[in-house]
Amino acid sequence: MPVLAEAASHQTIVPSAEFPQKFNREAFLFHHTLTDHPLFKLPRLMELAKETQRTHKQDLYYDAGKDVAIGARWDEFAPAPPLDEALDRIENNGAWIAIHQAQHDPEYAAIYDQCMSEFSELSGVDFKKVMRVQDALIFITSPNRVTTYHIDRECNFLLQIHGSKMIHIFDSKDGDVLPQEEIERFWTVDNNAPRYKPELQNRARSYQLEPGNGVHIPVNWPHWLKNDNNISVSLSVNFTWHDSERGNIYRANHYLRRFLKPINFNPRPPFESSLSDGMKNAFMAMTYNPARAANRFMHKLKGDPVRAR
Ligand SMILES: [Fe+2]
Repeated sequence: MPVLAEAASHQTIVPSAEFPQKFNREAFLFHHTLTDHPLFKLPRLMELAKETQRTHKQDLYYDAGKDVAIGARWDEFAPAPPLDEALDRIENNGAWIAIHQAQHDPEYAAIYDQCMSEFSELSGVDFKKVMRVQDALIFITSPNRVTTYHIDRECNFLLQIHGSKMIHIFDSKDGDVLPQEEIERFWTVDNNAPRYKPELQNRARSYQLEPGNGVHIPVNWPHWLKNDNNISVSLSVNFTWHDSERGNIYRANHYLRRFLKPINFNPRPPFESSLSDGMKNAFMAMTYNPARAANRFMHKLKGDPVRAR
């Protein structure tokens, strides 16, 4: 297959010393060579979106809305139009299309695997040992569309392929930007718990994304984006960690804070005490995780859509 051969025959990610120094610690820019790749031309992506809707529709999310506020909740958007309409009018309908699990298609799988293999080598981390869920996620967005402020569970390499846009990324360790209560709620009950604080916008690291560059976003680092006056295509090469310790500790802290509210209990954040972390992780692994797995299974059976971002 020519595309597979092309992906495997040359370096896709341009090496840089920042990978080993900053991986999952800091945001940083890098460069790639996918800008002219035929798999990311709009007609091919529209085929992929339609195929995703036909064969695993839970992996396709899209909406259309102009003048989206940075701090809007993603579950507040109006019902999405038919997919054909969203795709045909993408030039001016404010669309935001996310195709998850593009690696169901073997050609996109080859790109994902190639990128992950290179990221692994560059970062010095054997991703095969630490990844739980892999996701080749493609975003297609209308001119000037805002991607609302949020945090992700995934470790993310975002590659800009067509068009340009600005991304604003905040340090998750900044307790003013991302208070512990917000991150605990995110891991436990509300994907939109982190709230955008316009007065802290000047703490963002802002990167102009152009075709051929990309940015690494560590787990839980808040971010929002705005397209320039062009259609944008980006590939997010991302994965969740096999180790669920981080989530378990935040969830334990959420419940501790809630149940001990009368005494204003302030639980210790993760990664400060291995004893405290170990106890919380073990407890949540025994109680919360099996219940969550059963809940997920039921949603999958019903074909519910995946989380938008
Ligand atoms: Fe994100």
